[in-house]
Amino acid sequence: MRGAPDGNGHFRGPGQPPLRVALIGAGGMLAQAVRQTAPEGIELLPFDLPAFDLTDPAGMAVALEPLRPQLLINCAAFTRVDACESEAERAFAVNGAGPGHLAALAQRLGATLVHLSTDFVFSGAARRPYCEEDAPGPLSVYGRSKLQGERAVVASGLSQYYIVRTSWLYGPGGANFVETVARLTAEREELGIVADQQGTPTFSVDLAAALWRLVGLRGGAAAPFGLYHYSNAGCCSWYDFACAIVEQLRALGSPVRARQIRPLRTAEYPVPARRPAYSVLAKDKICHHTGIHIPDWRTSLATYLRQRHDAAAQLSRGC
Ligand SMILES: NC(=O)c1ccc[n+]([C@@H]2O[C@H](COP(=O)([O-])OP(=O)(O)OC[C@H]3O[C@@H](n4cnc5c(N)ncnc54)[C@H](OP(=O)(O)O)[C@@H]3O)[C@@H](O)[C@H]2O)c1
Repeated sequence: MRGAPDGNGHFRGPGQPPLRVALIGAGGMLAQAVRQTAPEGIELLPFDLPAFDLTDPAGMAVALEPLRPQLLINCAAFTRVDACESEAERAFAVNGAGPGHLAALAQRLGATLVHLSTDFVFSGAARRPYCEEDAPGPLSVYGRSKLQGERAVVASGLSQYYIVRTSWLYGPGGANFVETVARLTAEREELGIVADQQGTPTFSVDLAAALWRLVGLRGGAAAPFGLYHYSNAGCCSWYDFACAIVEQLRALGSPVRARQIRPLRTAEYPVPARRPAYSVLAKDKICHHTGIHIPDWRTSLATYLRQRHDAAAQLSRGC
């Protein structure tokens, strides 16, 4: 049983037993989408705190070695960007050193590692989408810790890795911007949202499907190992994103109290961590190697809000 795609980019031949995939950070938002989109023939093995801790390499080995997973998907991270500023030690232990421990373990197991990173590794000084070769320049502890994590994977000596940077993630099962705006817009008459930071929202389900494609388990062959960018297509500011959320909620008949969304400058909304003013990711590389079509951010937002609306309606009908 292989822990890496063969020369033709395939993990499994016909008639082989299910591929064992360790899902790290299994309780998180992206992990939920990874489960939801998992292809047939996969045995998903979930791992998360408190039993599985990225800062405890010996404990990770005890948990993973007997199960011998062939693929590790690391969705675990300390993702509260502002909290990272005051808890830098934890941020660097989890986001910086943790992925290195996991990569070393993957190498011992002969497994492939998929590791997630962020647009916040960039400074935001660019005026065109960031490609994988662009120099990083993180502005926050979170961004620096995630960059350290990427470098730890590369330095581990593991060659079978995919590092995937994404941005502005939302989806089922997570605290995220869409949920925050949906809640605030039902409570308040006016919202103020930052309008001078540009990026691209990413629907977790789209990203998860792209991860399965990248490793060759959802149609097509595996892409070459290395660093990739993935977000939805297009770009917007947080303000544009909030306006689209409210407009689409209204169209679905969801409760919207807010009459006005006020565009704010970053300086008018002080938070502990600095964010890049521009962090749009170029996706040419992942598209080239997987052939995926990336949906526009507005289309995916509509898909998510429609699913969320239908789920709430079903719940209220008691189904
Ligand atoms: N969310 C975004 O907007 C965004 C944007 C760009 C990139 N990313 C990256 O995408 C990936 C997935 O993000 P997400 O939003 O799905 O994250 P999430 O919902 O915050 O989930 C992260 C998971 O990791 C777990 N975790 C935290 N510390 C851990 C540790 N020391 N050991 C093991 N597990 C630990 C968390 O457990 P607890 O809940 O118990 O802490 C949680 O289950 C991350 O690598 C993140 O950096 C996210």
